[in-house]
Amino acid sequence: MSGAAPAVGVARPRVEGPAKVTGRARYAADVPMADLAFGIVVVSTVTRGRIRDIDVAAVQDMPGVLGVIDHRNAPRLNPDAGHFFGPDGGLQLLQDDVIPHAGRPVALVVAETLEQARAAAEALPVTYEVLPHDTDFSADHPAGRAAMALFDGPVDVGDVDRELAASAVVVRERYFTPEEHCSAMEPHSATAWWEGERLQAVDSNQGPFFIATVVATLFSLPLEQVRIRTEHVGGGFGSKGLCGPQLVLAVMGAMHFARPVRVTLSRNQVFLTTAMRPAIEQMVRIGADDDGRLRAIHHEAAFELSPLAEYIEGCTELTKTLYATPALRTRLTAVPLDILPPYSMRGPGAAPGSFALECAMDEVAERLGIDPLELRLRNEPTVGPASGLPFSTRNLVACLREGARRFGWASRDHRPRMRREGPLLVGTGLAATSFSVGAFPSTASITAEPDGTFTVVVNATDLGTGARTALTAIAADALAVGAEKVRLRISDSDFGPAWSAGGSRGTTSWAWAITEAAAKLRSSGDQGTVTVDTAQLLNDLPSRERHSYSAVFAEVTVDPATGEVRVRRLLGMFAVGRVVNPLMARSQVIGGMIGGLSMALHEEGVRDPVSGRHINADFAGYHISAHADVPDIEADFVPDYEPGIPMGIKGAGEIGNVGTPAAIANAVWHATGSRQRALPIRPDRVI
Ligand code: MOS
Repeated sequence: MSGAAPAVGVARPRVEGPAKVTGRARYAADVPMADLAFGIVVVSTVTRGRIRDIDVAAVQDMPGVLGVIDHRNAPRLNPDAGHFFGPDGGLQLLQDDVIPHAGRPVALVVAETLEQARAAAEALPVTYEVLPHDTDFSADHPAGRAAMALFDGPVDVGDVDRELAASAVVVRERYFTPEEHCSAMEPHSATAWWEGERLQAVDSNQGPFFIATVVATLFSLPLEQVRIRTEHVGGGFGSKGLCGPQLVLAVMGAMHFARPVRVTLSRNQVFLTTAMRPAIEQMVRIGADDDGRLRAIHHEAAFELSPLAEYIEGCTELTKTLYATPALRTRLTAVPLDILPPYSMRGPGAAPGSFALECAMDEVAERLGIDPLELRLRNEPTVGPASGLPFSTRNLVACLREGARRFGWASRDHRPRMRREGPLLVGTGLAATSFSVGAFPSTASITAEPDGTFTVVVNATDLGTGARTALTAIAADALAVGAEKVRLRISDSDFGPAWSAGGSRGTTSWAWAITEAAAKLRSSGDQGTVTVDTAQLLNDLPSRERHSYSAVFAEVTVDPATGEVRVRRLLGMFAVGRVVNPLMARSQVIGGMIGGLSMALHEEGVRDPVSGRHINADFAGYHISAHADVPDIEADFVPDYEPGIPMGIKGAGEIGNVGTPAAIANAVWHATGSRQRALPIRPDRVI
């Protein structure tokens, strides 16, 4: 058994790479199915109101139409199925005539072919009684109320007002980030059918076990009667973390028509019906002494949500851990509006929160005349500033120093507007950041096969990140065999409970279960099958501040005539625990940095206040960074090891997104002398 070279730490291409590039990898909308019918979703064109009529007779005789499901004939859902994400969760579809937000599904048109279903859906007359709506977000909206998230509640440490009064410099600024859309490449799709007593579905999601529990609850079925599989997923970014409308409606279709039904959202419907990041307004006050030591940080964030679902954007989470300060105050305010329920998107909370905090830190450095890098180094904490807990490991300083060395930061003139190249202004900026990591309960089982191979079953999901490849290496090392001896099976709710691919906690959670199962199997002499559940082990994990860290450096050019910002260089140094696969970890953090660049310069859901609707709900109007926007990106890892977690891993899922917007905004200030406190940094905001 021994003698196999370690697989963890080795750069290997994706195990499913050949299947993907040859088109054999099947995504949810590709699964072949006999007798398949197609459902097209019809969504509300009004923002608030009631359905007056849906004229099904007008389309019933169109070619291929099998029928229409709406609130009058839809299967009844369990009204208590909202779980932790609110009374409705955005899941109680087609249950009544109420329209709570624009884009709410109002009907599913089912036909023999996709084209027939689409033609009938487009022809379906729906009339509404329109009621007044409120989609107008602001931090001081009268409906705002105090909120707290799982990892982010209000804190009060020390006396913020006294420390600010005693500070040599106080920066107080407001920051705005707009609604943003996850924009995964694969539109959400589900195919649902019955096999005997069992409801089966193949769906685009980030965790089929969790999704199966939601579907079972919604449709009042025992969990054993529900099987959800997730094959290949073309990105999630948070939008596939919850049970999507495509799955609820496909299941309704399969029930109503007693045959397999596939529902694929159009790109426009992905924008209108799946999770977005809420609009956020933040206020940051930082006080510091002349020598750059912080005396106080006060960070408040207000964000919009929907009365249908309690999703809290934890913008102040990293403010509680990044810098030493004797006084700290954080608050979150939720503003309910008539909008689609927002949800986690690419570094939820942390990405917008770090934009505000790290831009404010840059202003502190400017006011004090201190190198922004030096300001971070002077405020390195020894224990969690809010929690008082020790850090498990903390390699932010290593990221900052190594990043600065590679970027050539030392030669920077810290005054703004000092560099010109022809007509262009040139500037550089940096941001430090962290992202909380850890593990959630998961199960895994491993079978020692008679031929000397091992079947490893864990309910992981691979969103295109390379989870299959990483977990194969982890299992190989845990079993002390070569990776070719490991057969990994993932993404089937029948495989039992596991954490979803989200919160940057997928790899840690699944790896933990795999390593425990492997240890148990090895101690039993590599015989038979063992199954483990890590729930108890996680309870025994000592409380620590556990985070990944990074330092991001950006160089931009700004055309003062047009206001166009181009990112010319981007460098990220990361401390993410032990790196399982350097090739894929680098791809992951580079992808995150591109997401951060996109957030900094391009992404903005624009809502028409009169209609309450998004006016740019497609890729023609909603801009994301394209190849021409993205420079060569350098990303690398400093040595890091998480002592509390098997294999020493932390998480690299989202941290790439987090520091990049502030690094770019700070570089734009350095180039132009003008602060950018609202994203995206559009040309009209620069000139
Ligand atoms: Mo994520 S935004 O943790 O899916």
